[in-house]
Amino acid sequence: MRAIITGVGHFVPDRKLTNNDLKQLVETNDEWIISRTGIKERRILEKDKGVSYMAVKAAEMVIEQRNISAAELDLIIVATSTPDIMLSATAAIVQKELKATNCWGFDLNAACAGFVYALSVASQFIENGKHKKVMVIGADKMSAMIDYEDRNTCILFGDGAGAALLEPSNDDNLGIEDFILHLDGSGNKYLNIAAGGSLLPASHKTVDKRMHYVYQDGKTVFKRAVIGMADVTTKIMKKNKLTNNDIKLLIPHQANLRIIDAVAKKLGFNQDKVFINLDKYGNTTAATIPLAMSEAYRKGMMNKGDRIILSTFGAGFAWGSLLLKWAID
Ligand code: COA
Repeated sequence: MRAIITGVGHFVPDRKLTNNDLKQLVETNDEWIISRTGIKERRILEKDKGVSYMAVKAAEMVIEQRNISAAELDLIIVATSTPDIMLSATAAIVQKELKATNCWGFDLNAACAGFVYALSVASQFIENGKHKKVMVIGADKMSAMIDYEDRNTCILFGDGAGAALLEPSNDDNLGIEDFILHLDGSGNKYLNIAAGGSLLPASHKTVDKRMHYVYQDGKTVFKRAVIGMADVTTKIMKKNKLTNNDIKLLIPHQANLRIIDAVAKKLGFNQDKVFINLDKYGNTTAATIPLAMSEAYRKGMMNKGDRIILSTFGAGFAWGSLLLKWAID
């Protein structure tokens, strides 16, 4: 039994935060941001809404496209690092809003690698015959965790969500073919939100020290992301005896255009084989890959039978690549 993607959807808030808007907040400028990151604008969710709002909208788009009822879902996995609340799971809030009355679910936190991790997990429940419909969502409201006084991070991130439905197929020429995932906790110190968890619960001190915001050593993350995504993509292609000609589209994590260009160069992929939308959204963490996948599909860039590679890198460090054959007409 193969797990195939039968529907994809996405949601981004209407409000745009442009490079010129950021110029009002920190010492930066449009030219620097575009030349160093490729990002022109990001989307920002209203303050009074949580990440579940976007996750539900993305899932609803999938449900509508696939023309099913939410009650048919067996499992909902929400990949996020920015849950609505610390307890309970965002998956529970999404389940309630969707009225998915016959499922279970959980959150998965692997930062930017969350969606690829979640897709890999979900495929196991399909392949072993346990479930027939699994909704996999990647969603993050990064604007809630970003210090808009820190120019090293505030230029990079935005809010968004994407979702995909996994179902079984007897056609073993379609669907998820393979994945290779990695985790290296020694990377934690280079990219994290230090406070707000059980180690350092919120206190006056953690707030005063701005420890509830994303911290990043950009240069180290940059280097590790390039090496990580290029190496794991090479590995999965070699393992499956594939050359560049066999791949229709590489959908990389959207963090920085220079990271994507360096990965593509190492792999020898032409630009037309690499999907990019970070100019419009910035880094939406767990949402980047499903948001990109949904847009690429709607732009007609993936047809049934095309081989696609999803490749990701994020906090942890957590990274990996997933190989699939597109199954939607
Ligand atoms: N606007 C203007 N100048 C800025 C700036 C900004 N927003 N941010 C930094 N600068 C300045 C620096 O202070 C530095 O000035 P100096 O030379 O006088 O010290 C100069 O620009 C170069 O900074 P540097 O940090 O070397 O830039 P960079 O080319 O490494 O780019 C990042 C910084 C953050 C864009 C880059 O490191 C990056 O994208 N890292 C990985 C991010 C990522 O992928 N994160 C998520 C992974 S999931």
